[in-house]
Amino acid sequence: MELLKQKIIDEGIVLSDQVLKVDSFLNHRIDPPLMAEIGKTFAQQFRESGITKILTIESSGIAPAVMAGLELGVPVIFARKRKSLTLQEDLYTEKVYSFTKKEESEVSIARKFLAVGDRVLLIDDFLANGEAALAMARIVHQAQGEVAGIGIVIEKAFQDGGSKLREQGYRVESLARVASLRDGIVSFAE
Ligand code: G4P
Ligand code: NA
Ligand code: NA
Repeated sequence: MELLKQKIIDEGIVLSDQVLKVDSFLNHRIDPPLMAEIGKTFAQQFRESGITKILTIESSGIAPAVMAGLELGVPVIFARKRKSLTLQEDLYTEKVYSFTKKEESEVSIARKFLAVGDRVLLIDDFLANGEAALAMARIVHQAQGEVAGIGIVIEKAFQDGGSKLREQGYRVESLARVASLRDGIVSFAE
């Protein structure tokens, strides 16, 4: 997605060889017109996949997921990282290990929001080691649904999440694939 790549070039800050900061349009401040285009692009890619629901994880996955849900006409669920006052019903819960943060956390969603046979599109802002996407996929499988695809805003192709997910047979569509962040320069994969 050219508009997204240009935004990354213009506003992305390379923090290290591993980490790209994009808080001016994705992780802190959000650019609504860009997000609308992101939603349209995901919808084009998955229009024929019979998607019935979108699943993401709070917080930065919510904006692209909602825009895609608007385009596809399906509800959007975000997994919660903390048990909330109101989230007390029967839950699906999965552990997520973050190699970046070197810590394990849990994500949960209420069982009533996923049904047997749901065809779920997973959406996330970043794909690094793929642990968040795999946790979402496990939740879908717990609910006896099917993962119909995975939509990622920015894939760090130099980390192993993309290959891990594709090897497991998932269709992964990334709107921008970063091949390297070496020497403070963002280079994109084909
Ligand atoms: P993984 O799920 O692919 O294995 O990723 P990882 O554990 O590395 O990701 C942990 C958090 O860091 C996630 O956000 C993820 O989106 C984010 N992240 C990973 N690599 C980058 C990067 O290069 N740049 C930025 N900006 N973020 C990155 P989170 O903690 O769930 O936070 P949020 O969704 O509330 O923003
Ligand atoms: Na994030
Ligand atoms: Na995320």
